[in-house]
Amino acid sequence: MDTPQVDNRTLSKPFATGTGYGRKPSSYDTDLIETGPGTPMGEVFRRYWQPVALSREVRENPIPVNVMGEDLVVFRDKQGRPGLLHSRCCHRGTTLYYGRVEDQGIRCCYHGWLFDVEGRCLDMPCEKDNGASIRKNVRQPWYEVRELYGLIFAYMGPPEKRPELPRWSNLEDIKEGERLLTVGPVFASGADQTVSCIDCNWLQHWENTLDPFHVQVLHATFSSVQFVEEFGIMPTVEWKSDNLGVHYIAHRDLDDGRHVERVCCVWFPNTRSIPSVELKPGPGHNVSWVVPQDDQTCRSFGVFKVPEEFKMEGSELIPGKKWSEMTEEEHRRYPGDYEAQSGQGKITLHSEEHLAGSDGAIRLIRRGLRDQIKRVKNSYDPAGVSFNSDDALIKVFSGNYFSD
Ligand code: FES
Ligand SMILES: [Fe+2]
Repeated sequence: MDTPQVDNRTLSKPFATGTGYGRKPSSYDTDLIETGPGTPMGEVFRRYWQPVALSREVRENPIPVNVMGEDLVVFRDKQGRPGLLHSRCCHRGTTLYYGRVEDQGIRCCYHGWLFDVEGRCLDMPCEKDNGASIRKNVRQPWYEVRELYGLIFAYMGPPEKRPELPRWSNLEDIKEGERLLTVGPVFASGADQTVSCIDCNWLQHWENTLDPFHVQVLHATFSSVQFVEEFGIMPTVEWKSDNLGVHYIAHRDLDDGRHVERVCCVWFPNTRSIPSVELKPGPGHNVSWVVPQDDQTCRSFGVFKVPEEFKMEGSELIPGKKWSEMTEEEHRRYPGDYEAQSGQGKITLHSEEHLAGSDGAIRLIRRGLRDQIKRVKNSYDPAGVSFNSDDALIKVFSGNYFSD
């Protein structure tokens, strides 16, 4: 079992005086951070299905979405088929955000070109014979989408490498009196559902998931108990890599004599399952995805298995107030996940970090992500993608497991 230890390799840099004067320019790790088209991490992300919208919100009006630096519109044609197209019309470039959804697709407002959900042009009303002879020469850039768990997932990678859309074991087993609740885009904890765009790079939000020690400080002892008092006990932690991702097991001996193992899992490149923050016993009932909008913002989509009668109301971060109701002074005095992560800046500066013993999982995550970059560069498939529907079930083992 690992306990936090000072890592002498990173903490013993010999600063002569320690003042800020004369430091080298700071920087971030571009390979890990950037997910735009053609970037190393962008190529990894584009080998997985990514959620881009909630199914229930995609109706007649096109919704603008930014995914990994690409400006897109998601819509549902009047036959009920979802579509995801580049927003910039391939004729002369106005946005399809102002388009009109019809039976067969979306019609651009400027000169009326009509595109179906796979980007085929079906009508050019300003051209001879409605463009019958030239329509086949254009295609609005599009991506394949599928609906699952109340989300619209998109595959934005090379078509010949498209994997099966995976299923998650804890979301498949719905018993009588239970249902799936799909939320997003929304901040995972602390902030309530008023935060739809997370104001920082995807990685600093995602890797927070595997930081068990901030739970003891930020969420339990720094200013207030934001979840449960038991988190105030400093855990001993083990962390492990497996073929698909990384997980930690945080051990706590509780005052009532019980022992709890809190298991939290992430899967490459951006998925996670967080056990109940109320320390409810048993397996974790959620899966969520941290999807980059661009390099400086991201969105989180989540699916929760909940009792039929459950209502999502947003928790109070301080007595009587949800996150969005707090004053600036209260945000300063009672910081939570949002403040800590956005406080790292839009993109945290890796050159200025000093990873310590308690950051073991952060090291494993970053190493694992770099491995995925290498795999894709060397023409291998990244971890966890499956081309066989029988294998495309990911076992979720997060949870709070108690023993006497
Ligand atoms: S710009 Fe879209 S039809 Fe002309
Ligand atoms: Fe947190």
